[in-house]
Amino acid sequence: MAKIFVTRELPGKALAQLRQHHDVLVHPGETSPTTDELKAGVKDADILICLLTDSIDQNIISAGSKLKIIGNYAVGTNNIDVDWATVNDIAVLNTPGVLTDASADMAFALLLATARRLGEADRFVRDGKWSGWDPTLLLGTQVTGKTLGIVGMGRIGIAMAQRAKGFGMRILYTNRQPVPAGLERDLGATFVELSGLIEKSDFVSLHCPLTPTTRHLFNAKVLSAMKPGSILINTARGPVVDEAALVEALENGPLRAAGLDVFEDEPNVHPKLKTLPNVLLAPHVGSATVETRSEMADLLVRGIQTLLRDEQPNNLVNPEVFG
Ligand code: GLV
Ligand code: GLV
Repeated sequence: MAKIFVTRELPGKALAQLRQHHDVLVHPGETSPTTDELKAGVKDADILICLLTDSIDQNIISAGSKLKIIGNYAVGTNNIDVDWATVNDIAVLNTPGVLTDASADMAFALLLATARRLGEADRFVRDGKWSGWDPTLLLGTQVTGKTLGIVGMGRIGIAMAQRAKGFGMRILYTNRQPVPAGLERDLGATFVELSGLIEKSDFVSLHCPLTPTTRHLFNAKVLSAMKPGSILINTARGPVVDEAALVEALENGPLRAAGLDVFEDEPNVHPKLKTLPNVLLAPHVGSATVETRSEMADLLVRGIQTLLRDEQPNNLVNPEVFG
């Protein structure tokens, strides 16, 4: 029987399943534990299950003298010092795969909604401003036939490309390395450098992890070199974009609009972003479907059970610790 500390109650049946065989302590309430609460929580725990909002740094990891497994309820693991976990022989699990479609749906929803100005349209009707059909009312930009640039061609980037293909878009992508030629052909996607991608794309959608290399990848220089009238979609991680520079690019060009599900300092949003009509905001809900959120918890629990049997799960982030 393992001692498991969970930083928030999770949807679905996964935690109930863990409770049948293990000693599960869930941090109560609807806010993340403080640093002290986290330290106290991991102190005697064998396993930590945490959210992307919990910063699991060296201090927290070192406070868990018995800690063997960290399960992150997210695919991105930028909130965890994975190297330090590895040094301490602690396995890190995440939730790849099960959130791919939900996340790509969200990115594509933001793409369509910013192209067709749905945020403005909704506010227009609610505010009682609609006085009749008008040939020039809320003109957006066409999606079909336009070029989508995908930054980061992992599972979610590929799922985004599949959606874009269905909408008759031309697809460019940049990635550490090109995807296999057969997949490129199926998707009709062309590998380019970032500079070519931002120059040619009408829509740019971010699907890369947050790493030291991708932090502020979209800085003032890159944003100002984007195609005039283009639209930026970010459902990846907020700090990939320099938010102050984004505001500038939305106010003074070249950007037409932005659809944002993630922010530099969540849950705080740059005050200017909230006032710009051409920005669509969502509170980091890319994976928020009933099905996906429950599958994410199931996947973590399966990974934990696999590790407890001394076998290697597919969703192990640091396979170095195994064997
Ligand atoms: C969500 O942002 C995730 O990384 O799962
Ligand atoms: C997510 O699972 C990704 O690899 O993009």
